[in-house]
Amino acid sequence: MPQDNMKIIVVEDYNEMSRKAAEILIKKVQEKQNAVLGLATGSTPVGLYEELIKDHQTTGTSYKDIHTVNLDEYIGLPKEDKNSYYTFMCEHLFNHIGIPAEHTHIPNGETKDFLEECDRYENIIESLGQVDLQILGIGSNGHIGFNEPGSSFTGKTHIIDLKESTRQANARFFESIDEVPKQAITMGVGTIMKSKEILLLASGTAKAEAIHGTIHGEITEELPASILQTHPNVTLIVDKDAYSLCE
Ligand code: GLP
Repeated sequence: MPQDNMKIIVVEDYNEMSRKAAEILIKKVQEKQNAVLGLATGSTPVGLYEELIKDHQTTGTSYKDIHTVNLDEYIGLPKEDKNSYYTFMCEHLFNHIGIPAEHTHIPNGETKDFLEECDRYENIIESLGQVDLQILGIGSNGHIGFNEPGSSFTGKTHIIDLKESTRQANARFFESIDEVPKQAITMGVGTIMKSKEILLLASGTAKAEAIHGTIHGEITEELPASILQTHPNVTLIVDKDAYSLCE
């Protein structure tokens, strides 16, 4: 059974998911103008970011005092690579909402000293205080951020070897599978769980099994998102297809 604190909003499709998520995020930004937002990459939040840009341009919601921390970054891609999460965030959001660049944080996937980078990133998150609202997508194997099955529930920012299935799923953005990095830096599940509020988005049948496990499954490190059942303030916005195995 899902925990009572897990709020589930089932919507028709991807567009409605994006609009609902934007409503929640914009409300947070308007209530707390210096909020810390945890942000995600992948196809899932693209529609949400489009809604935020539209709202910023039409109603003027301000991001000048907002700080952001991203979940993860590939290791080995230059920042300027079209597939780096740095480039993704600039193109899909940061360049369009008037947020100061120094308020946005993404792990550095090009560093020489990865352990030091993990510590540096975890310290940045701590120094900002709690993340007020963390946006999450979900991998079809239940990963959150890049915390693949088997990741510790108490983990901090760390290096992860990407599963072959995750590399295959993300290969659509690259010229070929060989170009998909084999490792990433990701906030740990423990880091994510410290957020005050979490908003997980999922769309499409490819996510149905992971969503079923997240809501109804055993809480196990083999399905990283299942830990969300124990978070005190989590909302899932899922479309009918992603929710299809839960009915
Ligand atoms: C990626 C990201 C995750 C994302 C997930 C799903 O690899 N690291 O943060 O939630 O996989 O991606 P998509 O939204 O493209 O389905």
